[in-house]
Amino acid sequence: MTWQEEMLKKWLPKPKVGVGQLITDAVRDRLAREFKGEVLFRESMKEHTSIRIGGMADVFARPQNVEDLRVLLKIANEENIPFTFLGWGSNTLVRDAGIRGFVVALMPGFSKVEVVADEADTMDVMAEAGVKIGALVELSREKSLTGVEALIGIPGSIGGAVVMNAGARGVEIKDVVREVTILTLEGEIKSISREKLEFSYRHLKLPRGAAVLSAVFRLNKGNQEEIQNQIRQYQLKRAETQPLNFPSLGSVFKNPQPQKKNEVPLSAGQIIDEAGLKNIRVGGARISEKHGNFIVNEKDAKAKDVLVLINLVKEKVKEKTGIQLETEVKVLGEE
Ligand code: EPU
Repeated sequence: MTWQEEMLKKWLPKPKVGVGQLITDAVRDRLAREFKGEVLFRESMKEHTSIRIGGMADVFARPQNVEDLRVLLKIANEENIPFTFLGWGSNTLVRDAGIRGFVVALMPGFSKVEVVADEADTMDVMAEAGVKIGALVELSREKSLTGVEALIGIPGSIGGAVVMNAGARGVEIKDVVREVTILTLEGEIKSISREKLEFSYRHLKLPRGAAVLSAVFRLNKGNQEEIQNQIRQYQLKRAETQPLNFPSLGSVFKNPQPQKKNEVPLSAGQIIDEAGLKNIRVGGARISEKHGNFIVNEKDAKAKDVLVLINLVKEKVKEKTGIQLETEVKVLGEE
């Protein structure tokens, strides 16, 4: 090393871990030898998020089954590599410098959805984490089961929906779920029954680092025509009120929850609308004209554009109404 190089090394700030730096040849070898699923190196998260934004993941891995997922966790633990679940990448904003370590999607590996119990008035449906919410609603329509019609059109996977207690039109995952099966960080599979699940608004409390593998939903037997009509109505309403023609994150902010019982919950979209913030653009991102709680990627938006809009909305809404909006979206990765 020359004295100039030594000087630079001493004085320049220590660089953050760069893309791919954590993924040594040894890690690549282990992945090739031990892991059966698909592995993509330096994969752009634009391809795997609903808003089509995000830098590279060092490794994007899709385990085929639980054994495979366990192998991935083991390699991550032993090699000290960060581990991030992505799901279908809806409701998720990946920052522009991407995600270090392993990013994991449980699809198409975990995509089984089936009836597991058939009683007089109800059926239990098991759905694995990688199943799209729409596929669960579709099965319920086919089998004339009622309970999840309102969830049609929520983008994302069952795993993500369970973890964030997704909901629409007054129906939440917690209303229909019977049991959730998880894989703990230690590699143990555990089923947690309804009574023990600690749901709150857009949240489920789980052991740190646990992954949802599947969930069982109890749905009531109903009238197929009515169920079909309901689903259709919800779809029409969504298309009418939400900007479905642009990539987005779904709802960006949580609806502020009422402080007192019987108070009607406020809508974040309406608050943003009334604060006059619709249609504001930063870079390629814009607060939707159609629905205030949506930020759309109009053209090559960057995560930083979206983050500026999120902060702007929070600040202006707080200033004008005193309400502190909280985000519903998960922000991952590095600036
Ligand atoms: N509104 C406005 N201006 C707007 C947007 C909405 O005045 O720009 C008014 C509407 O006219 C309506 C009220 O606000 O009177 C409520 O709006 P909406 O029916 O669209 O429902 P929301 O509370 O904004 C929630 C969920 C959505 C879900 C819809 C429909 C949250 C944060 N959002 O939105 O969820 O699609 O209900 O069920 O819970 C999602 O999960 O990704 C999502 C979009």
